[in-house]
Amino acid sequence: MKNGTGMLLGTIAVIFLVFAGAASCEKTQALPQRGGEPADLVMNACTACHDTKRICDRLGKTDRDAWTRIVTEMVGKGASVAQEDIPRVAGYLADLQPGSPPVCK
Ligand code: HEC
Repeated sequence: MKNGTGMLLGTIAVIFLVFAGAASCEKTQALPQRGGEPADLVMNACTACHDTKRICDRLGKTDRDAWTRIVTEMVGKGASVAQEDIPRVAGYLADLQPGSPPVCK
């Protein structure tokens, strides 16, 4: 009886930890990362669905307005960039030289 109770408490503790871990993970994924360096935002948010080749192909050929449209479209598809960070990401990509690290290694 004593052992049974211990097992049960142990099991509950394990279940709790697993759920707590899963919940905090989900939270991190659901919330767009705010602030930080635009390079980190791009490397984190823009590599979830495709690699950076699509981005690198456009460096030096795409102005800030066009990047704003593209990034806004990608956010619409699910990219984790906060609305307030779109202008910074677009400006960063517009100024980035073709082939620049870390986006294009
Ligand atoms: C939720 C998935 C997803 C994420 C995250 C994502 N993209 Fe995309 N991206 C796509 C899909 C799907 C396409 C191809 C369809 C299209 O062109 O609309 C694409 C295409 C592109 C293209 C080529 C289209 C063009 O007009 O040249 C560029 C550039 C691009 N993405 C940049 C980005 C940037 C920058 C980010 C980060 C802000 C990003 N993507 C994040 C899904 C995503």
